[in-house]
Formats: sequence, C-alpha cells, structure tokens
Amino acid sequence: MENKDRGSWGSKFGFIMAAAGSAIGLGNLWKFPYLAGENGGGAFVVVYLGIVILLGFTMMLGELTVGRATKLNQYNAYKKINPKFGFIGGIGILTGFLILSFYSVVGGWVMKYIFQYILGGVKDADKMGYFVNFITSPVEPLFWHALFMGVTLFIVLGGISGGIEKASKIMMPLLFLFLIIIAVRSLTLPGAMEGVKYFLIPNWSEFNLDVLVKAMGQVFFSLSLGMGTLVTYGSYLEGREDLPSNAFTIPALDTLAALLAGLAILPAVFAFGMEPGAGPGLMFGTLPRIFSVMPLGGIFGLMFFILVFFAAATSSISLLEVPVSWGIDALGWSRKKAVVIFSVLCFIIGIAASLSNGPWTQKFYFFNPDGQNFFDVLDYLTSNILLPLGGLFLSLFITFVWGYDNAFAEIRKGSKNNFALSGFWKLSMMIGVPLMMALVFLQQTGLLSKILGQ
Ligand code: TRP
Repeated sequence: MENKDRGSWGSKFGFIMAAAGSAIGLGNLWKFPYLAGENGGGAFVVVYLGIVILLGFTMMLGELTVGRATKLNQYNAYKKINPKFGFIGGIGILTGFLILSFYSVVGGWVMKYIFQYILGGVKDADKMGYFVNFITSPVEPLFWHALFMGVTLFIVLGGISGGIEKASKIMMPLLFLFLIIIAVRSLTLPGAMEGVKYFLIPNWSEFNLDVLVKAMGQVFFSLSLGMGTLVTYGSYLEGREDLPSNAFTIPALDTLAALLAGLAILPAVFAFGMEPGAGPGLMFGTLPRIFSVMPLGGIFGLMFFILVFFAAATSSISLLEVPVSWGIDALGWSRKKAVVIFSVLCFIIGIAASLSNGPWTQKFYFFNPDGQNFFDVLDYLTSNILLPLGGLFLSLFITFVWGYDNAFAEIRKGSKNNFALSGFWKLSMMIGVPLMMALVFLQQTGLLSKILGQ
C-alpha cells in the first residue's frame, strides 16, 4: 500500500510549525476573543486553559499516536488496528471535507480584506454594512473562495515536506511576529487597560454550564481535534520523535496565539469604546472601524488581515490533507489527482455555503427551531456534533479496541522519560474525555436543558 506520494516531515521544527499551523486558525483569531468577550472574559479564559491542560494534551497525544503507529491516513489507520473500525476514520474524513467547504469561504473573505487594505482600507463609513453587503452578494465571495481554495490546493500539491511544511515554516513565524506587533500597538492605546482587565480578570458571576461547554467546544475546534488531522500529521512522523513533548508544545503554541489574539483585539475594542460581542462582525466590521480611526491604521489593518490569512491557510491545508492522504493510501491515487479532485469537491460544497449567506434563502430546521442557513448548518453540524463524536470515538477506541498497552508501547518509542505521564493520560482518556464529550453533546443538541428540565 506504500505510495511514493505519501511523504514525511523533513524536521522536528517543520512538523511543529505545520501542526501548530493547523491548530492556529480562524478559531483563535476570530472566535476565541469573541467567545471570551461574551462569556465572562477572564472566567472563560481560565476555564479554557484548564480544559486544554486536562483534555487537550490527552486528545492530541491520542491522535498523534494512532497516526504514527499505523503510518496511514485516518480511515486506514483505524482499519489497520481493527478492520471493523474504519468507519471512525471515515466520519473524520467526511467532517474535514465539510469544515473545509465553509472554512474556505471565510478564508476568501480574509483575502478580499487584504486586497481592500492594499487599496487603502474599508472606505465605507458603515463598516458592518460593508461586510454584510459583501458576504450576501452572489458572485464576488465565490471569486475569493475559489482563490483561497486555489492557494490551499497549490500548497498541498507540493506534498508534506515540500509543500505543507515549507509553507508553515514561513507563515507561522511571521504570523507570531505580526500578532505581537499588533498586540503591543493595541495594549499601548489609551484606555486599553479596560480591555485587558475584561479579558484576564475572571468574572465568576458569569460562569455557568453553558460557558463550560462552549469552552470545551472551542478547545476542540481550536486544537484541530476530533477528525484525524493529527492522526494524519502523526502518520508522517518517524518513530524517534517524543510524542508527549509534541502533544504539549502544539497546544501551548495554540493557546499562546489565542491569548495574543485576545490581547490584540479586546484592548483596542475597549479603547475605542466599541462592542466586544459582535460575533463574525467583530473581525470584519468592528476592527475595520478601529483601523480607520487609528493612526497608521491602514498598515495595521493590512498586517492584521495578512496574519489572519496565514492562520487560515495553514489550517485549510491540514483539512485538505486528511482526504488527500486517504486518496493516496487507500485509492492508490497520485497526490496531484487526490488534491485536485478533493479541492474541486470542497469548492463546490462551498459555493452552496457562500450563496446561502445571500441569494439562497433556504432554511434548515436541524436542531434549531428558528432555522439556519446552509453555511450555519455546516458549521453547527461539524463543530457541535461530528467533532465531539470523533473525540468520543477515539477515547472508546483506545480504551476498548486498541488497548492501553499497545498505545503505551507506541508512545514510549522516542519518549525521553519513558512516558512519565502515562497514568494521567490513561485516566484522562478513559474517563475525562467521554465525560466531557457526553456533556458537550448533550448541551449542543439541546438535550441537556431538557434533562435538567429548564
Ligand atoms: N484549528 C483550526 C482553527 O482554529 C481549524 C481546523 C483545522 C480544524 N483543522 C481542523 C478544526 C480539524 C477542527 C478539526 O481555526
């Protein structure tokens, strides 16, 4: 089954950049600051950090281990360990597909904004109106969606070390550099301290079960867990890598990026007396308003959208690589064929997602009595149902099918301290993950409130 198009990482640094690149994305830059803004600021941040430490590390190590042990794509990895369980991997590949379809639409919006800032910024006095007009128009977002998908295709065509790794090694350090510059600018604005306090000092009166569940969902999406991205990336690793230390470094970098994003965005929002809870509009409507009144705002705006683009592109390539890796291993396709076919498919599903923000008004009443458009259905179905399901399956699979002895043996290969955290990992994987996932799932589907009778 070995295919010359499979490939492997060129260096440890390259792998870390690629994996951190997958994790750090729109989830960190857009969603995290806005979720913190809406859910008690510091309380959300503290709960989020706790979950990353208790579960993020565990899940990440679990996925990397399955990948490296089998050296196969997400579907065949599970199938190789037990022929009955390929379906777990299959669900993950499908999930990746659906995420990429709408992720690429948003990636396209980011490219449009870069272009706009090259031309001098969003000139429209009503920035939020400008954003809404743009995303609801039928044709223009499709052009940017195609362009973003094209960039993703181009990088993944280059393969593991020559494409994904190379792009990540360039984009990720620049992303951090730009993010630090913008955070410093934001923190030195008069009135910035209000935003810092809001972001970092927990307001426990706003804490409730809903905040806990939102934080868990966010950990999942932000760390790229639950659909085999890390199984796939782990499958390109050699046996001599220390998996536990990688499973620590990647979430640490992802969390650093999320905190920096919060410190880049919220202090500026407060300094200019704007609303922190504007949802998708926070990045595309509120920030452009701030950039338009800030000295040198045009340059900061351009830098900001370029860094968001780097974040989005290094995530979208990891999403595309999941089905591509399956095409290469299981179908015997060349990388080129797999990349082209799967990109075009994602592009097509994304057309429907993009149009559903504007001309295509069909509503779906899927777990939502008020109805959602197709774009929101894709987001909802993947983040709130399919990813937690993937996490739950991984835990059950390791506990009941693969077994901890096999997993430990794989992790100990290359582990410098003979996997000192094995006891913690087992407890967390066997009990913590299913408990949390059950809670997320019940809450997200609205079943929890029915059970609690609210
Ligand atoms: N983690 C990325 C973000 O924060 C998105 C992403 C990439 C992702 N690959 C994933 C999310 C796999 C879930 C699963 O934007």
